[in-house]
Amino acid sequence: MSGLIPRGFIDALLARVDIVEVINSRVKLQRRGTNYMACCPFHDEKSPSFSVSQAKQFFHCFGCGAGGNVISFLMDYERLSFVEAVETLAAQIGVDVPKEALAASKQHDQKTVLSQVLADISAYYQQQLWQEPSASAYVKARGLSRETCVRFAVGFAPSGWDNVLRRFGCDAQQQQALSNAGMLITNDKGNVYDRFRERLMFPIRNARGQVLGFGGRVLDNRLPKYLNSPETPIFQKGRELYGLYEVLQTKRRLTQILVVEGYMDVLALAEQGVEYAVATLGTATTTEHLQRLFRYTDTIVCCFDGDNAGRQAAWRALEISLALLQDGRQLRFVFLPEREDPDTFIRQHGKAEFERYLQQAISLPDFLLQHLSAQNNLNHLDGLARLASQAAPLITQVPGKILQQLLFERMSGVVRMSPDKLRAVAQSTPIHAARAYPSTPREGETAPPPPMRLAVSLLLQFPQLAQQVDLEGVDETVQLPGLAIFCQLVTCLLQQPQLTTGSLLERWRGTPQHSYLQKLAVWEHQLPEAELVAEFEGAVRRLRYLCREKKIEMLLVKANLQGLEYAEKQLLQGLIAEQQP
Ligand code: GTP
Ligand code: MN
Repeated sequence: MSGLIPRGFIDALLARVDIVEVINSRVKLQRRGTNYMACCPFHDEKSPSFSVSQAKQFFHCFGCGAGGNVISFLMDYERLSFVEAVETLAAQIGVDVPKEALAASKQHDQKTVLSQVLADISAYYQQQLWQEPSASAYVKARGLSRETCVRFAVGFAPSGWDNVLRRFGCDAQQQQALSNAGMLITNDKGNVYDRFRERLMFPIRNARGQVLGFGGRVLDNRLPKYLNSPETPIFQKGRELYGLYEVLQTKRRLTQILVVEGYMDVLALAEQGVEYAVATLGTATTTEHLQRLFRYTDTIVCCFDGDNAGRQAAWRALEISLALLQDGRQLRFVFLPEREDPDTFIRQHGKAEFERYLQQAISLPDFLLQHLSAQNNLNHLDGLARLASQAAPLITQVPGKILQQLLFERMSGVVRMSPDKLRAVAQSTPIHAARAYPSTPREGETAPPPPMRLAVSLLLQFPQLAQQVDLEGVDETVQLPGLAIFCQLVTCLLQQPQLTTGSLLERWRGTPQHSYLQKLAVWEHQLPEAELVAEFEGAVRRLRYLCREKKIEMLLVKANLQGLEYAEKQLLQGLIAEQQP
């Protein structure tokens, strides 16, 4: 997507706008030395840990880890797409984004086409809702006001086999788009017709409000009760959450987000003024769901049925959440009374009573303890031992040190074992832990060696250092993790010495290396200013040493396997001679 707006345009744009100005007009900044600070707009906090550097044209939050250049800021803060963020900045300084580039990038972006088709269909469904008496009577009977329906863009797919096909599939290309967007079905005979017929329609939107797919409910008892869009290039059920867009529209900072099961639950809650509920799309809660929600809040409350299935689902949610629980984040569980769902509960008891019920949500440590205790006989020593061996590997997955300690302490009270003993138990059952919980984040590829990290980090933070690098002997083709990026950074900066941390990082947007570079861009190495150059040169010297070592190693392997040519022998000798301290 970004590839179609010319690199030069983005460079020029980033050189002309000032991140401090752009952020300051949205979040009031205070000057602190060479940086500007504020309370972070991306998480709740009382003392400022959000810092903006004018020199680096880069922002970073020490609290939640958010960070990036001015484009990233706009994308996150105003929930814009990359192209939209670029357009916003361009408009601010009164230049136009090159037209062909924009058109091309939009046209070629199949995803944009699909969500546009779906947006048009959604508008059509919405209009139908008020023209079909049975549909509008149904939403009314379920207690939904017109305002709530409009806010959630609830609609109605009328009866008939080809309402959508006829209106939105005028030519082969449009039909293809409809089909790619999951709106059509082709039967065995090759006949094509509308997927959704005679259903109440719930558009599923992403955080930016783009329509990705639909859920549809029958108006009576026919089956299936619900029908969802299939997975498409823009719609993955395990990632999206119904109602997230609407929740985000209400506030920027959310004290909590409630996760429920059904579309109708989200709507009924919103109708009664509980405007922080989202629903999974008929699937279990996934890591991605939770990860996404933790971007907007520190507290997720998951709501389940009070029955056994509900408890099982809650336990699965607990298991996948552990690896995401940094300190400050929490997950809580609420179990509804038998045969109630949030919709029936709130309609019967009202908002105040529902929120009182939410207050009693079980914390994760309590639920963990409760669940495991119920499975073991705590009157026997081996029951306690089993409990310890089940709990320990779960607890060690928690990245938050304070929460982890708390969990070990809670557990130690029950199993009458010291927290340290419990930790030891955890370390002795690594296979169990690894097998049972594959969702723990994988370790990246081989981590680049420390001098590489230092060199790349210093270069990102102080791009002018590139002018002093002597790349002699640093061979890009050597297989050393991080080396290729280091060489690319140097080359880039030699060609364009004016690039800042922010505009330099822009070049890696959307690549797998981006998050690694971003971390290095904010790494606090605590070097005194006066020693920067010397440290950097030292790091490059060590890189050169590592390159030579690697080359020697490769030549020795080759010598063993097939022998070396004359020139290679010379090279090897030279390298070995240089490598002597
Ligand atoms: P109402 O009966 O309208 O109150 O809906 P509900 O949300 O209470 O329904 P239920 O508790 O039965 O289901 C919860 C969620 O599971 C729904 O919102 C759907 O996402 C999903 N679901 C339920 N029934 C079906 C079905 O037949 N097919 C599919 N694909 N999903 C379903
Ligand atoms: Mn229901």
